[in-house]
Amino acid sequence: PEAIKCKIQKSYSAIDQRVKVSGWIHRLRSSKSLVFIVLRDGTGYLQAVLTGDLARAHQTTALTLESTVTLYGKVCKLPEGKNAPGGVELLVDYYEVVSLAPSGEDAFTNKIAEGADPSLLLDQRHLALRGETLSGVMKVRAALLRAVRRFYYEEGLTEVNTPCMVQTQVEGGSTLFSLGYYGEEAYLTQSSQLYLETCLASLGDVYTIQESFRAEKSHTRRHLSEYTHIEAELCFLTFEDLLVHIEKLITKAVQYVLEDPVAGPLVEQLNPGFKAPTMPFMRLDYRDAIKWLNEHNIRNEEGEDFKFGDDIAEAAERKMTDTIGVPIFLIRFPVAIKSFYMKRCVDDDAVTESVDVLMPNVGEITGGSMRIDTTDELMAGFAREGIATDPYYWFIDQRKYGSCPHGGYGIGTERILAWLCDRFTVRDCSLYPRFSGRCKP
Ligand code: 4AD
Ligand code: MG
Repeated sequence: PEAIKCKIQKSYSAIDQRVKVSGWIHRLRSSKSLVFIVLRDGTGYLQAVLTGDLARAHQTTALTLESTVTLYGKVCKLPEGKNAPGGVELLVDYYEVVSLAPSGEDAFTNKIAEGADPSLLLDQRHLALRGETLSGVMKVRAALLRAVRRFYYEEGLTEVNTPCMVQTQVEGGSTLFSLGYYGEEAYLTQSSQLYLETCLASLGDVYTIQESFRAEKSHTRRHLSEYTHIEAELCFLTFEDLLVHIEKLITKAVQYVLEDPVAGPLVEQLNPGFKAPTMPFMRLDYRDAIKWLNEHNIRNEEGEDFKFGDDIAEAAERKMTDTIGVPIFLIRFPVAIKSFYMKRCVDDDAVTESVDVLMPNVGEITGGSMRIDTTDELMAGFAREGIATDPYYWFIDQRKYGSCPHGGYGIGTERILAWLCDRFTVRDCSLYPRFSGRCKP
């Protein structure tokens, strides 16, 4: 009979039909009379079996891992107790080799040997991506971005695309990547926030999902030089409104991912027993966090008790978050350790209306705040940070031509994924991770 051409995902429901599927040989096992193939095509995995003459033919053509083939055959439902992806097996009656991958020294398995040095594996990232774990994380990543966009659509935010080549800093001069720009100095953007703020007056609430760049000199499990930044900016809202929006985004996005027929089971596989977060998130004041850290004998960078104004660095933040074990809104950071644009609290002007979202096993996945909305205060903020204001004329204008209360936040896609998929490092959540010493492939 004529074969139905389909992707693997579709073949699962083509029981007793003859199909034609193309893909890569993901696994291969053969005996004298049988050849087992697990075929991969990006939509799923398909167990296929070659018998009789076909199996014997295989002994002469010698298929190899990662070769591309087109298989023809009948899809058979597997009996209870027998396990294969989709619960089916393809009984192959004919196959074509599209491209034969090398055997011997150049064989795929020698390129990305199990347990190889991580930096060698990163050199071979283009091949390592074919593995089940990495490709699984990338599938979840796609579902997460889809879920985030769905949430924004439901909430009425407009997506915009902001420039990556800029002449202003957002999060401190020390992590700026500079580049020559037709004889002028420019930078790769650290955050799209300032541009998002300028969109409020024309488009209302906005968001962007775009690469941000940070020249992070230290090697940590959660810092990349380039990461995908989910950022939103909202107007006419209070700090509490902002917090509710963020917790709603995170809980809804996770819910949508878990409901997804492909990504849901992948999360379960990568992060068994993952508990979806529920609203409201715990709120922890910076002042109380410092008390908590001191009570738990966790020290600051100088090895002393935390005092007001100390940065809560990665190690301390992780210890606290992992001990508490639930998502935390760490709020109201001191003015001195936060960026120039953050609004002060009305009841305590030593601190700002700011928030970091902390997740177990990762720590900070989100940073946000209400923004200063008057020119005078903003100018004072620039002065405090020693930032020359000329390049910011357009940002300052926002406070002049119809200012409004507004706030927003940025989420590191690789960080929220590291939490959701229980990955040790954000590097495992990026297609081609960039960090100091690595800019290839
Ligand atoms: O806390 P950050 O620096 O805040 C901002 O950039 C704000 N301007 C965002 C805004 O309000 N629109 O960065 C936001 C998030 C962090 O919480 C973290 O998840 C992620 O971006 N992030 C990084 N992820 C990977 N590698 C890095 N080097 C990162 N730096 C920040
Ligand atoms: Mg931050």
